[in-house]
Amino acid sequence: MTDNDQIFEAFAKEPAYIHVNERLVGRMLRHLKGYKTIHLLDLAAATGLMTSLTDRMTRSAGIELKSTLLDLDLPALHQARREVTAQNASYLYASADSLPLRSGYDAVIFGNSIHLLDNESKEKALAENRRVLRDGGVLAVNTTFYEGAYPEESKPFYSRWIRRAIVEINRRLPQRDKAEKVQALEFLPAQGYRDLITRAGFKIVEMRERRVLLSQAAVRAISSYKEFAKGALHATDEDAEEAARALQVSVRQTFNDLHRIFDFIEAEKVNRACFYHLVPSGRGHGVVDLSPAESRQAMDVILERTMDFHRRNVSAEILTVDNHCDGPYMYLKMKAVGDPRAEEVYEMLKWNGGGLYPSGVGFGCIDFLGNVHPDQFWMHYTFGNVRERKFSEIWMDTADPLMAGLKDRRKRIKGRCVGCRFLDLCGGALRVRAEIATGDPWASDPACYLTDEEIGLKPGTGEGALGPRTETAGVV
Ligand SMILES: C[S@@+](CC[C@H](N)C(=O)[O-])C[C@H]1O[C@@H](n2cnc3c(N)ncnc32)[C@H](O)[C@@H]1O
Ligand code: SF4
Repeated sequence: MTDNDQIFEAFAKEPAYIHVNERLVGRMLRHLKGYKTIHLLDLAAATGLMTSLTDRMTRSAGIELKSTLLDLDLPALHQARREVTAQNASYLYASADSLPLRSGYDAVIFGNSIHLLDNESKEKALAENRRVLRDGGVLAVNTTFYEGAYPEESKPFYSRWIRRAIVEINRRLPQRDKAEKVQALEFLPAQGYRDLITRAGFKIVEMRERRVLLSQAAVRAISSYKEFAKGALHATDEDAEEAARALQVSVRQTFNDLHRIFDFIEAEKVNRACFYHLVPSGRGHGVVDLSPAESRQAMDVILERTMDFHRRNVSAEILTVDNHCDGPYMYLKMKAVGDPRAEEVYEMLKWNGGGLYPSGVGFGCIDFLGNVHPDQFWMHYTFGNVRERKFSEIWMDTADPLMAGLKDRRKRIKGRCVGCRFLDLCGGALRVRAEIATGDPWASDPACYLTDEEIGLKPGTGEGALGPRTETAGVV
């Protein structure tokens, strides 16, 4: 293996992953009580997490550790050499089922990898482990890939996630070939592993299942591991990268499953629901926003479910809030399916100045102390206080540069919005988001998820492809 396809570094840094492996190392060491020196073989070591954990625990117990880290992923081994802190470690590029090593190890740790080997190689690897261990030596093995590993209650999440990821990868690679053999999904049951290990000549001293709760970040991290992605989406080696991306794009949306929110709206007869895009101010500060692909997916669900409500006469008013490119997105979707009302919708979106005149013009925010802000997401900017000055005076005072700009933003807006054919509808979306992201309230809104092609820019050039646009006057 010459590239870093196998590295699963991101997941190896997840606290849940580290914790569960710490427990395995701890139990292995309990079976090696009284040792002053431990010779460890870290099999399928990748970037060396198991050695690092063992090193930390043996060090604090005053035990000397001599370890051999073996893997067939060379870049991972190079990384392990840089990162592993164990003093007495050697690194070996070899396969687990044919060990170029003599007997004499006190322990072999075969972490999170056995499922990657086919059944014959699993048997060979275990026989090799038996051969290199001295009598009384300990083998510690763990895997998440076995029959029955997924708790019943996690299955709906898993199947929704994989369904979405399949749609996503098929969209990215419409002609893709499916991998014929996907070892990670050929699960053995726990009893199958017990039998294999026993047949290799080991006496089982402990066997247990540990339930691990994975955070959203952990699931995203495991998605970036190409071996996992290949297994989950039946992808070939060539498509592994796209498979990993498809899983990552789908995961966050699945966690926040909008479909279930719509089910709830219908079941509880909620008659109005607003879906807000993230504005990273106030409570939203520091929250990671959706990627453009995720925003589009979320919009697709909202539009699809709202139309379904309409068709079935379910009475609920559904709004999306604070990202005005939702309007053009909806228009483009109507055009794409030849909806006869598309042009009417276009005119309605443009009506009254479209999205050019909200904050600072059509709406504002007066907080509980009487301070006046451009909108509720822009509480960090104040124009004045209604206890000191009349609202009408504060609101029309364009001596304030931000107020002057908001009253006439069209000529100030910069970036890709300038060449966008939807500027008269969208108005450059939410100015405060641009201000938070760049410090400049007139920069492009970073949450715009429309592509260059959709907005009429020559892809990647930032130039308008449609020629000059007409100016429209906005009146509120
Ligand atoms: C999920 S990582 C596990 C890394 C580490 N043992 C841990 O528990 O964190 C799986 C590793 O198995 C390695 N691997 C897969 N098949 C192997 C084989 N036949 N021989 C050696 N390593 C192998 C991969 O290269 C990868 O680095
Ligand atoms: S590029 Fe700017 S104006 Fe065009 S849709 Fe996106 S945010 Fe709106």
